[in-house]
Amino acid sequence: MRGPVHPPARETILRRTRPDFSLRGNVNLFDLALPFARLLDAEDAHKLAIRALAALPARTPAADDPRLRVEAFGLTFPNPVGLAAGFDKNAEVPDAMLAAGFGFAECGTLTPRPQAGNPRPRVFRLLADKGVINRLGFNNEGFAPAVTRLKTRARRGIVGLNVGANKDTADRTDDYVDGIKTFAPLADYLTINISSPNTPGLRDLQAAEALDDLLARSLEARDAFTPRKPVLLKIAPDLTLQELDDVVRVARARRVDGMIVSNTTVSRPDVLRDPNRKESGGLSGRPLFDLSTRMLARTWQRVENQFPLVGAGGIDSADAAWQKIRAGAALVQLYSGMVYRGFGLIDEIKTGLAARLATASEGSLAANTGKDAADWAREK
Ligand SMILES: Cc1cc2nc3c(=O)[nH]c(=O)nc-3n(C[C@H](O)[C@H](O)[C@H](O)COP(=O)(O)O)c2cc1C
Repeated sequence: MRGPVHPPARETILRRTRPDFSLRGNVNLFDLALPFARLLDAEDAHKLAIRALAALPARTPAADDPRLRVEAFGLTFPNPVGLAAGFDKNAEVPDAMLAAGFGFAECGTLTPRPQAGNPRPRVFRLLADKGVINRLGFNNEGFAPAVTRLKTRARRGIVGLNVGANKDTADRTDDYVDGIKTFAPLADYLTINISSPNTPGLRDLQAAEALDDLLARSLEARDAFTPRKPVLLKIAPDLTLQELDDVVRVARARRVDGMIVSNTTVSRPDVLRDPNRKESGGLSGRPLFDLSTRMLARTWQRVENQFPLVGAGGIDSADAAWQKIRAGAALVQLYSGMVYRGFGLIDEIKTGLAARLATASEGSLAANTGKDAADWAREK
């Protein structure tokens, strides 16, 4: 096992040496288990983590520094650090993730019917690069079990639901509309995921005409049932600038509430060293940071403040989260960073962001959003 790249913050070390029976204490036990979990196949380790998290007693998250509060899509987020889709596909542990310190948790991707996904192995760690490649293919239990779970949870904290389409569906758009209708009453926001590289043809829905039809029908369904429920669109980092122009034009015309930039990439940056780089699928984690942040900045420039953006891709430190915000993110999400840094990463990021706000001349996250977009957007 390789150690963390950055040493843990002093506060984190101090906290870990004290007996702590809060959920944060329990969560730190997960961090202790990380080296052992890495001996397992990546997917087995993930299953074990979900099972253990689901068994934890319910806890209320600790209060966040008020400077970290973000208003977006009509919601008030206690802090800007969210759990990205894919970790809790079946909505089994959103409250445990909120209790661990995330400001919001996105469940899914869920498809209407259960789906097995691609043959295993299908998740690979790139230890040398601090990356992950997955070709899961929307493996999930389908809508029904998640509906039951979400109906019975006490609704505290912001939970989003990310919807997709079954691989063998006759009309993909129908599946998204179905997802919006099913989960709008049960989640705080919805994400339309048309950017997974592991369902053949799915990303074609990012093309202007198909996207326009998808958004028209999805938002019509939303307006009919739950008019104020925010609907976000999650895009790939691999779009050409022409494609990005089209996506943003349609998203603005149809008045989506926000966009998530980005999903995993099918590209393989030259910097990759790990032998697993040859596996097919979507690459996430540190090697995705530059590409996804550039795409975020370019999206921010095109959106012109018509709606907020969520930045995802390679966040594994407070500095990386800060750079996302400066590139155009109102909120951020992460997944792969947890694989390498454990749950302690959440507090580390929040503490680091609050420290930056204390010294920044404009002391709010919103005032810093997009400040470095022009630099990031430049061809590198
Ligand atoms: C194992 C794995 C499974 C994922 N599954 C989904 C998914 O079901 N739906 C989705 O929208 N994104 C999924 N993602 C993408 C993440 O939500 C995120 O956009 C991407 O990994 C970039 O963030 P990161 O570098 O912090 O992981 C998955 C990522 C990983 C690593």
